[in-house]
This record gives sequence, C-alpha cells and structure tokens, in this order.
Amino acid sequence: MQLDSPSQFSKTTLTLHWIVAITVISLLAVGIYMDETGTHSLYPWHKSFGFVIFFVILARVIWRIKNGWPVPVSQYQSWETLLAKVVHYVLIFGTILMPLSGFLMSAYGGSGVDVFGIEVVARNIDPENPMKSMPHNKAIASFAHETHGLVGYTLVGAVILHIAGALKHHLIDKDGTLRRMLGSSV
Ligand code: HEM
Ligand code: HEM
Repeated sequence: MQLDSPSQFSKTTLTLHWIVAITVISLLAVGIYMDETGTHSLYPWHKSFGFVIFFVILARVIWRIKNGWPVPVSQYQSWETLLAKVVHYVLIFGTILMPLSGFLMSAYGGSGVDVFGIEVVARNIDPENPMKSMPHNKAIASFAHETHGLVGYTLVGAVILHIAGALKHHLIDKDGTLRRMLGSSV
C-alpha cells in the first residue's frame, strides 16, 4: 500500500482520518445529548456505531505505526509543534479508550451490547423486574462509566484545539496543513 510523502497524504491516511473524525465527533455529540436528556432511544445507535468504529480506529493506529507521523508542512515554534503532538496523542489514545470503556460499562452494567440488532453481549435481566437490567459487576461498570465521561470531555477539548490548530494553519499561517489533509498536494 502507498505510504504518505511529505507533500501528499495517501488515500489510506485520508480515508481513515475522515471516517474516524466524522464518526467520533457525532458520537461525542450524541453521547452528551442522550446522557443530558435521558434519550434512551439513541443508546442502541450510539453503541452500534461506537462498537464498529473501534475496528476502524484500530486499523488507523496500526496504519499510523506502519506509516509514521506526518512531517510538518513548514517550520513552527517549538511550543506549537509540542502542542500539536500532545493533542494528536490525546486524540489517538482517547479514541481507543472510548469504545473500550463504553463496551465494558454496558457489558458489566448488565444493559448488554447489541450491534445493529446483533446481540454481542446479552442483557442481564432482573428476575424481579424484567424491564430492568442487573449489573454483572458494579465496580467495573462504574469505573468504565467514569472513564467514558472523563475521557469523553477530554476528547471534546482536544478536538476543539485540533480544529482550532487546523484553522490557524489555514487562515493565519496560510500553509498547506489543512489542504494536505483534504487530499491536495502541497
Ligand atoms: C473538522 C474536524 C477536523 C479537522 C479539520 C482535522 C484536520 C486535521 C489536519 C489538517 C491534520 C494534519 C496535521 C498535520 O499535518 O500535522 C490532522 C491530523 C490528525 N487528526 Fe484531524 N481533523 C479533524 C478532526 C479530527 C478528529 C475528530 C480526530 C480524532 C478523533 C482527529 C485526529 C487526528 C490525528 C490523530 C491526526 C494526526 C495524523 C493522523 O493520525 O492521521 N482529527 N487533522
Ligand atoms: C468512539 C466511540 C465513543 C464515543 C466518542 C462515545 C462518547 C460518549 C459520550 C461523550 C457520552 C456522554 C458521557 C457523559 O456525559 O458522561 C457517552 C455516553 C454513553 N456511551 Fe458512549 N461513546 C463511544 C462508544 C460507546 C460504546 C462502544 C458503547 C457501548 C457499547 C457506549 C455506550 C454509552 C452509554 C451507555 C452512554 C450513556 C451513559 C449514561 O447513561 O450515563 N459508547 N458516550
């Protein structure tokens, strides 16, 4: 498969970046919305897309290791390069931790995981009230829940910084950083 060059990103890098970017931004928005408003009808969709995107995220991490990190388009101040690097790491690790913690929260919490109608982990039905689920392990479920919330909000901050950085490159530095991620040769 073709690797990235300093002037042009490969189709693999572009496809993986944008599939993960759009899905993760949507999952963050839907996750916060359904949690704040208690919209339970959205939970199966959130779980299904969150489960499936995990495999794309893994493919992306393997690709990043194989391909190496992108070479900066130009020379920047050292704080800027460091901030971009830290944000990239938060984005990569955050996107791995979110599906894992979400899965563990639902599996050990007893509500189960259905992926587009296919049962991956069965619901643990409460025999006294079949409408309710019973946790398999409360401690693991609540640790995973805390992690999902904490990492989720950290990711929101990192995505905002990341988009601000991309816009700064495009509008203030007027360099090719964003254009390269959109497929142009710079
Ligand atoms: C509208 C939203 C987004 C824009 C405009 C955008 C833009 C960019 C640009 C221009 C780069 C190249 C940076 C460079 O050349 O050094 C990049 C890289 C990267 N972006 Fe985004 N991005 C967005 C959303 C996201 C999201 C939501 C994530 C993760 C959840 C993400 C993760 C990454 C990572 C890890 C890199 C490092 C290079 C790579 O692994 O492919 N981005 N992004
Ligand atoms: C990249 C993947 C994912 C992202 C970005 C994401 C994001 C979020 C966010 C931001 C919240 C709101 C958290 C809060 O306010 O405390 C949330 C809630 C939730 N997520 Fe995810 N999620 C992902 C994957 C998953 C997966 C795979 C599952 C289960 C299989 C899952 C199950 C849930 C559940 C059940 C809630 C509601 C928790 C509650 O009722 O308090 N998520 N998600």
